[in-house]
Amino acid sequence: MPKRNAKPAVKAATSKGPEGGSACRVALIGCGTVGRAVAKILGQSGGSSLRLTHICNRNVEKKRKTVLANDVPRDVIWTDDVQAVLNSDVEIVIELIGGLNPAGQIVRSALEAGKSVVTANKQLIARHGSELLQLAGSKGCQIEFGASVAGGVPVLPALRTGLCGDRLHGIAGILNGTCNYILSRIENARIPFSEALEEAQARGYAEADASEDLDGGDARAKLAILALAGLHAQVAPESIRARTIRAVDAVDFDYAAELGCTIRQISRADLKENTLFAEVGPCLVPKDSPFGRVQRNLNLVLTSGQYGGDMAFLGAGAGGDPTAVAVVSDVMSVAQNLSAGRGSGPGKRDVASNVSTTSISTPKISSDFETPWYLRFFVRDQPGIVAQLAQIMAAHHLNIDSLLQKPGFDKASLPFVITLEPCRDAQLHPALEEMSRLDFSIRPCLCLPILR
Ligand SMILES: NC(=O)c1ccc[n+]([C@@H]2O[C@H](COP(=O)([O-])OP(=O)(O)OC[C@H]3O[C@@H](n4cnc5c(N)ncnc54)[C@H](OP(=O)(O)O)[C@@H]3O)[C@@H](O)[C@H]2O)c1
Repeated sequence: MPKRNAKPAVKAATSKGPEGGSACRVALIGCGTVGRAVAKILGQSGGSSLRLTHICNRNVEKKRKTVLANDVPRDVIWTDDVQAVLNSDVEIVIELIGGLNPAGQIVRSALEAGKSVVTANKQLIARHGSELLQLAGSKGCQIEFGASVAGGVPVLPALRTGLCGDRLHGIAGILNGTCNYILSRIENARIPFSEALEEAQARGYAEADASEDLDGGDARAKLAILALAGLHAQVAPESIRARTIRAVDAVDFDYAAELGCTIRQISRADLKENTLFAEVGPCLVPKDSPFGRVQRNLNLVLTSGQYGGDMAFLGAGAGGDPTAVAVVSDVMSVAQNLSAGRGSGPGKRDVASNVSTTSISTPKISSDFETPWYLRFFVRDQPGIVAQLAQIMAAHHLNIDSLLQKPGFDKASLPFVITLEPCRDAQLHPALEEMSRLDFSIRPCLCLPILR
């Protein structure tokens, strides 16, 4: 059994370690939540053959006070001068600033200078991943981004190594811990969405402006990276439809439970010939399924392959320490490759990145999934409501599977549910448009796919 508090095994790098004089030189740019944890892991791995030489952050003196002196070697250079880091002899640059700029410029400059890059920056990789991979390849260096999806869950490295022998056709995941926290709190405490959001913010699981999380922007950036790494499909995150979780109400969990289900924000991508069916949004999932069992802020990714079938990856999708483990693991992997290439000259290194650029396709993107559907209406009660809804559905050739109405609600704001047999999204939406114009409807219909 591993000893508690044992030093992290940051051992696999280039050669003999600092004493031997040929440790791989590593610079950290961005010393926030993840950066601080990376500095700590690297700093606590005495005798390692990775050597942290620079920590770069704006307002660096203030930042320095947030890092325990014992956590980093005394000879680390603290600086706010990014250019000085890029001009130095570091071999690996860890970018942990986040956002598109200046992070993107820093990453490009590092690669141009022949330095390998490790980043956890999902926005950057989702938008510019294949361009940066090509730049790295052309300079004989690497860019790794294993922490950019699912934080500490090693799903990207698994796609690169353990699953690269399969032909994957589907990836689905719970990729946003904030949404999962909120939805599982509504599920367990039957509290309103607004209360669950406030609670998540108070506990540090949601930002003050949580729109990127709630409305699916964060998850679709991660899904775009998974599609690139696992399905070799290049897709702009904005081209993936994202539906918000804001409209999910506590009553939806009551109705979902009647169907043996719960509700989770699911990101899914299925490659069929040259179309990538992809979307992010709340879905009904069976309560006893892997997705239904994921609670709080955990992440889960399921992959489906032609030969290997289904695989599952579960764990901490965020947090300084778990994410830093993924970052340091990438640094170790790059250092191993540098070590293997040492002596053979530039351009001859083994460039084993998270993604190979050789077979990347640019498929058509569609959100036109065929599934059963859950439609929840809030209406002002009056005679003939179901008849009118049924008439519209019949006109659009939609088959009703069940009708659920719980007693005890105010007739001025009455929730009830209709479930539909499988049909395509494109077939359902014109009917929803028509239904939204009916005068008894007091809220837009909540329309969720049911994933079986
Ligand atoms: N936190 C997580 O759980 C998690 C999980 C997975 C992936 N990630 C990704 O990891 C990256 C870092 O996230 P984080 O949570 O550590 O962010 P963070 O706490 O905001 O840290 C960012 C750091 O970069 C510094 N910085 C910002 N702009 C800079 C600039 N122009 N020049 C120099 N330093 C600059 C910030 O300094 P100030 O303090 O002065 O602003 C801060 O120290 C992001 O790409 C994020 O998406 C994070």
